[in-house]
Amino acid sequence: MYKHILVPTDGSELSDKAVEAAIKLAKLLGARVSAFHSMEPYPLQGAYAAEASGVAELQPELFAERSEEYAKRVLESFKKAADAANVECATSYATGRSPSHAIVEKARDEKCDLIVMASHGRRGLEGFLLGSETQKVLTHSTIPVLVYR
Ligand SMILES: Nc1ncnc2c1ncn2[C@@H]1O[C@H](COP(=O)(O)OP(=O)(O)OP(=O)(O)O)[C@@H](O)[C@H]1O
Ligand SMILES: [Mg+2]
Repeated sequence: MYKHILVPTDGSELSDKAVEAAIKLAKLLGARVSAFHSMEPYPLQGAYAAEASGVAELQPELFAERSEEYAKRVLESFKKAADAANVECATSYATGRSPSHAIVEKARDEKCDLIVMASHGRRGLEGFLLGSETQKVLTHSTIPVLVYR
């Protein structure tokens, strides 16, 4: 039934749990997985802070470089886990308007038939019932979404 699963990950511990489950599920179904990381857009406050303080870390070029390094690291560890389980895997990253927008778009472009993601991510379990990216993916996705808790 499900043959191509999109697994969005922000690299957080909670996201890692969903990644593990997604790989297990893919193995059981004989499906392939596409891991996806959406890099955060450069924060607007960062631009003001960078100008005011001149701190190199906040400069857009460095921010982009660090974000890309992070994306590669997160996806590399996903690939290792998928390879270890003998599950066919592709990885990609992009900068989108927002992670949820990029996730929904990616699922459509790649013709995935299921999205597996965690209920929360980097900001963690406190606060809302569901993380905001998960909420928005549930609202906008036209394909089934499995929310891992
Ligand atoms: N940048 C991202 N790239 C890919 N997937 C993401 C990204 N951000 C979130 N996700 C996916 O959404 C899941 C839930 O994260 P979400 O951001 O909704 O919750 P949160 O970080 O706890 O809260 P917040 O709404 O404050 O960001 C993550 O486990 C991950 O699967
Ligand atoms: Mg988040």
